[in-house]
Amino acid sequence: MMRVLFVCLGNICRSPLAEGVFRAEAEQAGFLDGLTVDSAGTGNWHAGEAPDARAIAVAAEHGIDISGQRARQIKRGDFHAFDLILGMDHRNVQALTRMAAFDNKATIDLFLGHATGETRDVADPYFGDEADFQAAYRDIKAGSAALAAALAGKASRDSG
Ligand code: 4NP
Repeated sequence: MMRVLFVCLGNICRSPLAEGVFRAEAEQAGFLDGLTVDSAGTGNWHAGEAPDARAIAVAAEHGIDISGQRARQIKRGDFHAFDLILGMDHRNVQALTRMAAFDNKATIDLFLGHATGETRDVADPYFGDEADFQAAYRDIKAGSAALAAALAGKASRDSG
């Protein structure tokens, strides 16, 4: 069983994309059973909202529907409810690490660094344009595919 939480600032652009894209990758890799995937924001400004229309659009271009997601803020219980908490940029990881300081069971890491070894941010596209959302999607697709492959390998080793 593996529980993965993707975290960005607002939970309306990058982490909802990561939730949707990673779930699709996990399904293709055949290990969706026993997997929990969710996303949250370090901030609460957009709690209850659907993802940004530009994030919904770029996901839909790739056959992934994220329109049903609703934003929420990270909460203390998440540090016990998830095994892996991945921040989309360094600031997210810094905020998560600060929150988790005294009571945490999860592995907290930078999404791209953890997934691909490439230690860099998924840039925040919120104040950008469509090209910035395309770039975020590419990063998230690459990271999600790598993460799904790694976890699928782990799942088959654990059960074998
Ligand atoms: P996200 O993008 O962290 O990828 O969801 C943002 C969404 C909202 C804001 C900043 C970034 N904001 O300032 O409201």
